[in-house]
Amino acid sequence: MTATVTSESAESGSAAQASGRKFPQGFIWGAATASYQIEGAVHEDGRGPSIWDTFSSTPGKVFAGHTGEVACDHYHRYRDDVALMADLGLASYRFSVAWPRIQPDGTGPVNTRGLDFYDRLTDELLGHGIDPVVTLYHWDLPQALQSRGGWTVRETAGAFAEYAQIVHARLGDRVRTWTTLNEPWCSAYLGYASGRHAPGITEPASAFKAVHHLLLGHGLAARALRAAGAQSLGITLNPASVLPMDPANAADLEAARIVDGLNNRIFLDPLIKGHYPADMIEHMKRFTDLDFIADGDQALIQAPIDVLGVNFYQPTYVSAKPGEPASEENPGTEGVAFRAPVGPVTDMDWQIEPAGLTRLLERLHRDYGVPMLITENGAAYPDGPGADGQVHDTNRIEYLDGHLRACHDAISNGVDLRGYFVWSLMDNFEWAEGYARRFGIVHVDYRTQARLPKDSARWYSEVIRRNGLE
Ligand code: FCB
Repeated sequence: MTATVTSESAESGSAAQASGRKFPQGFIWGAATASYQIEGAVHEDGRGPSIWDTFSSTPGKVFAGHTGEVACDHYHRYRDDVALMADLGLASYRFSVAWPRIQPDGTGPVNTRGLDFYDRLTDELLGHGIDPVVTLYHWDLPQALQSRGGWTVRETAGAFAEYAQIVHARLGDRVRTWTTLNEPWCSAYLGYASGRHAPGITEPASAFKAVHHLLLGHGLAARALRAAGAQSLGITLNPASVLPMDPANAADLEAARIVDGLNNRIFLDPLIKGHYPADMIEHMKRFTDLDFIADGDQALIQAPIDVLGVNFYQPTYVSAKPGEPASEENPGTEGVAFRAPVGPVTDMDWQIEPAGLTRLLERLHRDYGVPMLITENGAAYPDGPGADGQVHDTNRIEYLDGHLRACHDAISNGVDLRGYFVWSLMDNFEWAEGYARRFGIVHVDYRTQARLPKDSARWYSEVIRRNGLE
């Protein structure tokens, strides 16, 4: 009997090995980019200035004074870039629309030449059998709106909904999947609390106003797009996989509660449950009165979504540490220590721990129960062509392989994960880090704009072809 069991399990084991880790049929394989990070052509065809033009041209804000003025010149090279995507076998491509190309002043007159660009890009993608996934806001707010208060004022939420409808009216006959915002955590806390990102403000009270107006903008836009017939709607967050250093220590658990609240629940609870968590209401009150939350806002924010976009890069470990000053990008975290990375890290000094992704997906599934897409996951490494002219980025392949296994584990455990978009299709302008960090599976030579698929691109192509890992 024992022998039978042993040989059966050996058989099923080798069968599993032979079939590898397959993903569900119809799993969406894609790559992602964002407008300001790749397009360049910032003065072309009537585009207005964005907060990232202003910020990156302010001395000291971005590494070595880099800006997105030229970036990957994708605005002019999009045809070649789409052909490259098709060569890789991508089923889907997530890109963002630059609001200042559509409404150079943030509100009012529509610049049709801006819409024309995304129209051409959409057709080019569809012509190659690639499904477009549109992000409406990936951080390039029209400067004109910032000059009137940016995300700290209610007007911006309404303006965003209007802009969303303009884009949908032009592309909605061909684009099926819409994402309102990318990572409002970054827009609010990096933009208005730490000032690491545009617009570079350092006022915690403003950060919480921004959280609310971003969420309100999402809710208003989602409702408008739904009414206009959008098929699949969502928002992309960068939820944190937060763990207390010592789960048996009450003070560490309390530290984790605050960080989880600021990173996750302050966004997800209103989006999915229709109200801010009570502890985060109290937390915000330490910095500002809450007059900016009008009656009915929370119901507006809870616009039904079809899919939640999840961006994941690294886990977050916290512990209680009396006397520790608050982290600038997490207002109100005095006494909380964020653990420095342990073990292998990427070029961003971000800890590599794929299990953190499984844990996060399972938690989101359990607590919020929405279908999900990984809208970003990837790694920066300082790579470039070697003696043979190729980029042998085995470290990136390992990172991606590990995280895809983590996704597969989550799916096996019942998580409704529908697809995966690698960040990024190509090396690009990495915000405050400029061009110093390379996240692409395609290498970009910024002097010549030559694109060169790295080993990871070929590897990813195989994963897509097999619909799974070896
Ligand atoms: C995310 C951003 C994306 C890119 C990656 C590395 O926070 O959404 O634009 O910069 O990080």
